[in-house]
Amino acid sequence: MKDSVQHEIQRLREEIERHEHLYYVVDQPVITDAEYDALLRRLQALESEHPELVTPDSPTQRVGGKPREGMQRVEHSTPMLSLDNALNEQELRDFDARVRQLLKQQQFEYVAELKMDGLSMAAHYRDGRFHQAITRGDGRVGEDVTGNARTIRSLPLRVNKHLAPWPAFEVRGEVIMPQKSFERLNAGRDAEGLSRFANPRNAAAGALRNLDPRVTARRELDFVPYFLLVDGAFALDSQWETLETLARFGFKVNPHRRKCTDLDCLLEFIKHWDEKREGLPYQIDGIVVKVDSVQQQRELGFTAKAPRWAIAFKYAARQAVTTLENIEVHVGRTGALTPVAHLTPVAIGGVTVARATLHNEDEIARLEAEIGDKVLVERSGDVIPKVVRVVERGPHRHKFHMPKTCPVCGGHVVREEGEAASRCVNTNCPARLHESLRHFAQRSVMNIDGVGNALVEQLLSRGLVKSIADLYDLTVEQLTGLDRMGEKSASKIVKNIDASRRQPLWRVLNGLGIPFVGERTAQILANHFGSLDEIAGASVEELQEVEEVGPKVAESIRQFFCEERNRELVERLRRAELQFTQAKKARKRGKLSGQTFVLTGTLPTLTREEAKAKIEAAGGKVAGSVSKKTSYVVAGEDAGQKLDKAKDLGAQILDEAGLFAILETDSRSSTAAE
Ligand code: IVH
Repeated sequence: MKDSVQHEIQRLREEIERHEHLYYVVDQPVITDAEYDALLRRLQALESEHPELVTPDSPTQRVGGKPREGMQRVEHSTPMLSLDNALNEQELRDFDARVRQLLKQQQFEYVAELKMDGLSMAAHYRDGRFHQAITRGDGRVGEDVTGNARTIRSLPLRVNKHLAPWPAFEVRGEVIMPQKSFERLNAGRDAEGLSRFANPRNAAAGALRNLDPRVTARRELDFVPYFLLVDGAFALDSQWETLETLARFGFKVNPHRRKCTDLDCLLEFIKHWDEKREGLPYQIDGIVVKVDSVQQQRELGFTAKAPRWAIAFKYAARQAVTTLENIEVHVGRTGALTPVAHLTPVAIGGVTVARATLHNEDEIARLEAEIGDKVLVERSGDVIPKVVRVVERGPHRHKFHMPKTCPVCGGHVVREEGEAASRCVNTNCPARLHESLRHFAQRSVMNIDGVGNALVEQLLSRGLVKSIADLYDLTVEQLTGLDRMGEKSASKIVKNIDASRRQPLWRVLNGLGIPFVGERTAQILANHFGSLDEIAGASVEELQEVEEVGPKVAESIRQFFCEERNRELVERLRRAELQFTQAKKARKRGKLSGQTFVLTGTLPTLTREEAKAKIEAAGGKVAGSVSKKTSYVVAGEDAGQKLDKAKDLGAQILDEAGLFAILETDSRSSTAAE
């Protein structure tokens, strides 16, 4: 019996691995997501019936295991050096001349590869199985990020032993965050009121080095390899063969590379990708040029910090200097006023830029930017360009002031204490309604095809829609009267609106446009409460009991449902028969679930982040302030007012040792119960 289960587990793993490779590495899936999910669920079921058969290289282990307690430092088999840079054509010529001189009359070839903009990592394999991953660190010693790396879908957890016959080998490469994942991540952070990541490299670094592998798993990283080592030395005879071999092993080797025998060929490749790099689904910051033959690499050797046989040609940053002509204010769906820089149009990396975001008042103050200044503008990974700094003060510069009234409706503008954004408080502001409708209909929200910018504008200007709920009363006749709208398109749109009634609760919740409630928070809330009425009726404390919901988000939700106008909207959506309920999905109950902790002061060994990770890993929640719901206050040195308040409210007070003790006892008692 056991044998046949083991056999089936083995078969499922191989099949899942094959599909993961087709999906995540080759980008050519042959089965649907649902079919893949079914295979994975079957494997999960078998493994949970037979936990003794679970191995770390099973595809089920990619979801992210327990948080780490801290960073483990590990020495590299051989230092991970960096490369010398060539910043222009002449510096590349100098490199080529040096190589030719050192190799005397020998013939040789170069390999040119894309320089992926991420962070380097060494992945170690033993007996064909993924064993350990280490970040570059200072080059000699890096951080152990094994659990996090395991969540990277394009990193093979097993390599066929017939192909890779060594007892141990090491693959070095770059961990990157694809552009799409980066944009999704920042959009989610915007919606939840969190600060954005400046570029995909920072976001990838944050994800790979995160103490909680579940966070890494959600961030959708990729591993792009370029070296194969055995016992700290190159395993094969050439770089070209290395790349082809790694691809055969199942790694996601970048397909864009070229063999060159002269400088012109290299320059052509460099120019080609400088022009095309915008269209790549990930960021590159240059081209790496390597002498192909490992024998010749040995002859060329190393300087103190870099090989003499390779160089990184760096592309110029996508920046340009232009004039800040004006600052206009855009009103978003939550009423937030965003200052937008209007620039003298300037070409940056082949795209004309005439607008850039200035985020908020504080950002303008930080930049000390005034209208008329010459500013440096950058197109980083983000879609929206940004102002980096003032390079020259304008002769007739003048300060920008955030308007005291809304530029669209003339309503009051307020800036709450502790908030970066100023907001128009008029809930009827047409700009807010316009943005709300667009948000509601978006693909990632209610997915109403056909209800885009142009249609929304017409609906508003003709007074056909005064609230999101009005969408559900639109008729084919009303729409047929609009510009460029035939009866066929009109009835399609009405049908699409009708179909959106079946969208799940979390989409409806996201669609309401509650400040700080984005897609992820909406999903968590829907799973926890199971109905819109429960969410609308929840107190700030009850909301804060939900994992990942802090005081700011809880307060915002509460305030939203207190407003008469929003309650009316909810009632109308109910009458329109949108989905107001769903099955509750209990999140995995940890040992400390239902318990709320507050951390204060400095603990002797744990950082605040580490303590938080430990509590959350055990299912507990960490809140920012002490309330009646606080179960424990963990107090370190210099604990302040929170401790006094905790004493007043009768919460239990723990020191670090006490925290360890309850983490311990709780895990023991619950293991016994399981
Ligand atoms: S080869 C001795 N190839 O760029 C180090 N590096 O300064 C040789 N990188 O640290 C590295 N793409 O993190 C190589 N195709 C590529 C690369 C690449 C990105 C990174 C890597 C390295 C840095 C070079």
